[in-house]
Amino acid sequence: MDPPAQKKSKMDTGDDSYIPVPAPSAENSSNLSLMFSLREEKGSLLNALKPFQKLGINMKHLESRPSKTNPGSEYDFYVDCVCPPEIKEELLSSLKSHSLSVNVLSRDPGMDEVPWFPRKISDLDRFANQVLSYGADLDSDHPGFTDEVYRARRKQFADIAYLYKHGEPIPHVEYTDKEVNTWRTIFCELIKLFPTHACKEHNHVFPLLQENCGFREDNIPQLEEVSQYLQSCTGFRLRPVAGLLSSRDFLAGLAFRVFHSTQYIRHFSKPNYTPEPDVCHELLGHVPLFCDPSFAQFSQEIGLASLGAPEEYVQQLATLYWFTIEFGLCKQNGQTKAYGAGLLSSFGELEYCLSDKPDVRPLDPFKTSFQKYPITEMQPVYFLANSFENAKQKLMEFAHTIPRPFSVRYNPYTQSVDIIKDKSSVQNLVSDIKYEVDILQDALRKLQ
Ligand SMILES: [Fe+2]
Repeated sequence: MDPPAQKKSKMDTGDDSYIPVPAPSAENSSNLSLMFSLREEKGSLLNALKPFQKLGINMKHLESRPSKTNPGSEYDFYVDCVCPPEIKEELLSSLKSHSLSVNVLSRDPGMDEVPWFPRKISDLDRFANQVLSYGADLDSDHPGFTDEVYRARRKQFADIAYLYKHGEPIPHVEYTDKEVNTWRTIFCELIKLFPTHACKEHNHVFPLLQENCGFREDNIPQLEEVSQYLQSCTGFRLRPVAGLLSSRDFLAGLAFRVFHSTQYIRHFSKPNYTPEPDVCHELLGHVPLFCDPSFAQFSQEIGLASLGAPEEYVQQLATLYWFTIEFGLCKQNGQTKAYGAGLLSSFGELEYCLSDKPDVRPLDPFKTSFQKYPITEMQPVYFLANSFENAKQKLMEFAHTIPRPFSVRYNPYTQSVDIIKDKSSVQNLVSDIKYEVDILQDALRKLQ
């Protein structure tokens, strides 16, 4: 997948000029990321951008979205620019005089060359308007391409996701009878196969989802209800997404135990086929496994490994994600079972993957991450894990080879990512480990 395209701002700039997006240059400069808010008034963006022009500051990225506090009349703007330190204060001061608010998004010293990544869970809000395709933008071979009603419905779902911010409940959706019928077809076929084809973790959790979250043939569960239940199991949560995210952004969500989930359903004309993820895939394929602690940890490790990684390694991690979380097989009691969501949400491929037709190889991140794969047809090759714990160990060995000038760990208390790259951050880590070891020693004493 390609990175998101640079966007022209939606807001009127007051003249016909476009917002310049020059390449970064200038030695002895520093990258600066900031957010500012403006009223939707003619010429307000042009005025806010004048300090950048006046001070000769190169802008690398500019994007806008309706403000959460006042979505009808205010916009938030995010800017990446190259700003020499000696003129930073002048820039901020000028910008403040034209804006409702200005916030500098911090970057640590020595991190300028590292691709930006979210440091706290609310930073994921930035991804909402970086989708590679939006809602009703369907390809000409999509089953719903000529269905205007379906396209309008897809736009409704995309708008929900676009306006969503971390911490809000995911809006409730009334699914139509036609949509529930599509769900019913898929649900009824899959539950026949789960007992024999799905891994034991999936079969353990599925009845709990039926009891607690309304997983029934006549009901499409609500994302908010499912997300709440997931959080109570493993801390994973769902977040609606307006379209396709870049690999980097999608994997970054996993680092925070956030899964970007679609909310729409595939077109009713082809219940057995969807060219993209839909709510059936997310709820029947992904959600049960994210309820499992070992699988949740494995998924988060892929996300953590991706933060700030060079692009080629992000693509390798995306391939690993594909062959594990989407299409993974595992060994249980001498039998091969499916745990990948792409398998567990497709009754055709769920039968096929356990037949003698595909090529099944042992999971080895150093090899698996280079395997090519088709997207819209059944996989010719699958990879088999001994267990989620074993897969996690192998993944971590792979992750340690990713060239990054720092280590990361997730801090569940602050829902943020700690960067470990200097004496002080290492001391904090040692202190936390010592605390955990003390608890372990106390527990072992009591066991004896
Ligand atoms: Fe998926």
